[in-house]
Amino acid sequence: MKILGFKATNSRTVKAALGRDMENIPAQFPALFSGADKICLVTSSDAPPSLRARALRLFPEGRTPHFYFWLPPSEKAKTLEEAGRLCSFLFDNGFSRNSLLIAAGGGAATDLAGFAASIYMRGINWISVPTTFLAQIDAGLGGKTAVNLGGAKNIAGTFHQPALAVCDTAFLDSLPHAELRSGAGELVKYAMIGPASLREALLKRLPEAVSGDKTALTACVSACAAYKLKLVARDERDETGLREVLNFGHTAGHALEALAGGHMPHGEAVARGIKAALAISRQARCLGAADHERLLAILAMLRLPPARRVRRDLKRFIALVSRDKKARGAGNRFILLEGPGRPFAAENIKPALLTRAFAEALK
Ligand code: GLY
Repeated sequence: MKILGFKATNSRTVKAALGRDMENIPAQFPALFSGADKICLVTSSDAPPSLRARALRLFPEGRTPHFYFWLPPSEKAKTLEEAGRLCSFLFDNGFSRNSLLIAAGGGAATDLAGFAASIYMRGINWISVPTTFLAQIDAGLGGKTAVNLGGAKNIAGTFHQPALAVCDTAFLDSLPHAELRSGAGELVKYAMIGPASLREALLKRLPEAVSGDKTALTACVSACAAYKLKLVARDERDETGLREVLNFGHTAGHALEALAGGHMPHGEAVARGIKAALAISRQARCLGAADHERLLAILAMLRLPPARRVRRDLKRFIALVSRDKKARGAGNRFILLEGPGRPFAAENIKPALLTRAFAEALK
């Protein structure tokens, strides 16, 4: 097990435990658990029994009373109503500011539970236990919490760092192949924005990781999580541009997810969003032809399926990329590439380029 940590802006220490087959986390982080008067374990109602069994191996019942809360499956969990339902559950069961919330699940579960933890009694401690490949390398780390509003993703949210993130790749053993493929979309993001050493390490492992190889998955989670936490430690609240590069592929990606009405996995949407960002980078002449080809060859490793269930509605696509919360008042805001490992932010991309980007994203 590798333990990473940094000091958050509220001067609390944020830790992450990365590895495989972990057990009894309270015994390894006693300070975090000794002060907790109650613990609530939050999981999705469709979580398989093996997920709950593993979560209980990580957090065995001890002297502190455990409570259990079930969320609706996947993105259906990410509503203000559900956050309210969880907060009411905590209040009805006497949870205090010293209580602890543990969220075990995909990105939707950790986003929602982290959001509830941030507003309940103005903020209580929580532990993020991402159980999908995608959440272990992105959503479950870094303290961004959110709910969706009006069909747009993550519109209401907070920054509330989990005191501890536990990325145990044994959770990935029972993950369907489609979930591993989806996670690979985020992995390609890291391979494109990160330094050459990270890119080489990830691309070497990508095929094995997608086929479920345990060693490759553990190596990829460890490398991506360490890179993300380094950026988060230096720009926790996404203010200086350092952390923002993690949004590469997400501006168009979130728009495509909305146009697919929930039928496109997040990782596939990010991969298609990356296609869009590369098309814009090339068209705007920021990215040279040879680098563009190299980066497209990386995307081709994902063997994306045909984009069947996306509404071919260019006007709506353009409206959605402008409504994305990353737009910061500009018409739109994208992370583009000048070359591998050289991301930058660009605003007000013209409709002609967006038209081309939309077509490329759907190929
Ligand atoms: N998923 C982007 C970030 O955490 O900043």
